[in-house]
Amino acid sequence: MSEEENIESREAPPKKKYEFIEDLPGVGPATAQKLRDLGYHTVESLAMATARELEPIGVGEKKAFAMIEAARSAIGFSFVRADELLKMRQNVLRLTTGSKALDRILDGGLETQTITEFYGEYGSGKSQICHQLCVNVQLPPERGGLNGGALYVDTENTFRLERIVQMAKHLGLDPEQVVKNIIYAEAYTSDHQMFLLENADEVIKANNIKLIIIDSLTAHFRSEYIGREMLASRQQKLNKHMHKLLGLARAFNAVAVVTNQVMAKPDVFFGDAISPIGGHIVGHTSHTRLYLRRASRGPVRIARLVSSPYLPEGEEIFKVTENGIEDVSEEEKTNKHRDH
Ligand SMILES: Nc1ncnc2c1ncn2[C@@H]1O[C@H](COP(=O)(O)OP(=O)(O)OP(=O)(O)O)[C@@H](O)[C@H]1O
Ligand SMILES: [Mg+2]
Repeated sequence: MSEEENIESREAPPKKKYEFIEDLPGVGPATAQKLRDLGYHTVESLAMATARELEPIGVGEKKAFAMIEAARSAIGFSFVRADELLKMRQNVLRLTTGSKALDRILDGGLETQTITEFYGEYGSGKSQICHQLCVNVQLPPERGGLNGGALYVDTENTFRLERIVQMAKHLGLDPEQVVKNIIYAEAYTSDHQMFLLENADEVIKANNIKLIIIDSLTAHFRSEYIGREMLASRQQKLNKHMHKLLGLARAFNAVAVVTNQVMAKPDVFFGDAISPIGGHIVGHTSHTRLYLRRASRGPVRIARLVSSPYLPEGEEIFKVTENGIEDVSEEEKTNKHRDH
């Protein structure tokens, strides 16, 4: 077999025995409806569920497990537990940020199957990065993209089509086409935000979505859950929301991005007095966290990789311009040096 044929056969998609959830053995119309009510509309998302998560449909753990197994085998996921993670890991793809420096601290770009969190103050560039990623995801892999579409859940009405058009033009893409591949959803409350994600699996599948953005993850939660007595329920909801997001990222081999604002910790006098909202629960689920801040006035931003499952901490600079997210040139770096 020639090398070419070999690659082709390796990349052939797994044969799908069950296209829809009602095709799965043991799933009748009533069960299918209950699954949908729980937010499982596709075989892919069901494959990432746990038997415990299916408890509300009332079929018992054994049957729930059998349904998940059938869904898994339908999407070519029918392997034993021990090498499950390894196999998934081999399918991880990377999406470029548009800045080589920023990609470098991420070891090549944002990963699929995990959540990447950008946190930082107002104007630090979180939403600008989100816009850029919506365009970049549509690029072919040789240009750092994933040949896919984007889903943008916007909680603060910050999404701007004009920015997408500017960025698309700069990359030589047809803006009209680029805009068509972005599915936009505005979330009005935290419950609505959760609802949108719980019902996103079909949209993701139908539109070949490879990037799921929640900008901002915490804004609604922060304004609705006020005071200490509401903290526990806020964290519980945020936790559930993040797990849903992670499940979608894994099911569809997509990049998941959330943004988060920061709050000052007035009781901390030494060290870093800034911390992202949502605390540890968000921190544990979001596998890669980047802290963004302004360098000074002007377009330059500093990104610090604060935590990652396996990458070292690192810091790099990039800039936000009319074109989008770009590298700071060597010349600009030297000039900046001279100014000081
Ligand atoms: N067309 C543009 N040309 C150059 N710079 C721009 C352009 N649009 C936005 N910016 C830069 O991006 C900044 C806004 O960044 P962004 O909206 O990403 O902030 P953010 O981190 O999302 O803030 P927030 O916490 O308020 O959501 C502007 O202050 C400006 O510096
Ligand atoms: Mg923003």
